[in-house]
Amino acid sequence: MGTPEAVEPAVDLLEQLADGGTALEFAVGSGRVAVPLAARGVPVHGIELSEPMVEQLRAKAGAERIPVTVGDMATTHVPGRFSLVYLVYNTISNLLTQQEQVACFRNAARHLMPGGRFVVELGVPPLRRLPPGQLTCPFDVSEEHLASTSSTRSPSG
Ligand SMILES: C[S@@+](CC[C@H](N)C(=O)[O-])C[C@H]1O[C@@H](n2cnc3c(N)ncnc32)[C@H](O)[C@@H]1O
Repeated sequence: MGTPEAVEPAVDLLEQLADGGTALEFAVGSGRVAVPLAARGVPVHGIELSEPMVEQLRAKAGAERIPVTVGDMATTHVPGRFSLVYLVYNTISNLLTQQEQVACFRNAARHLMPGGRFVVELGVPPLRRLPPGQLTCPFDVSEEHLASTSSTRSPSG
């Protein structure tokens, strides 16, 4: 996810959707996307829960352009209105309840100027590959990475 092949197309799209305005990244992390987006001239503000992640961001060249507010993306308010709020890398899934996810959408709306956009990147696992009764299905198995689709269904249903 940190390779130029993964990051550049995302940054291209976000730059286009920011449409000459400013952007707010929810859960900005170490700035994988915010740093190259800001380097394109899009002013980016970040919200991030983890101070150690913000320290990782601060260690990067160009991070000085990106103000970060430490807090929960579902509730934290930052000054200003943005033409783009974005939340990438499946991070909406870090909010574990529907109530928190709805609060996050409301918080995004609160930060958008009229006509602004909220972009959410979320991989949807291929649950239909799970036969009845099977709760997991590996889709990437290597020495460095083991990933599987999981369902919380009970074996009977
Ligand atoms: C997978 S990383 C993604 C970081 C960055 N957006 C990127 O694309 O590289 C997830 C980040 O979300 C942050 N995070 C998790 N829950 C959060 C929350 N409720 N509010 C703000 N940040 C949160 C984590 O601390 C972590 O930095």
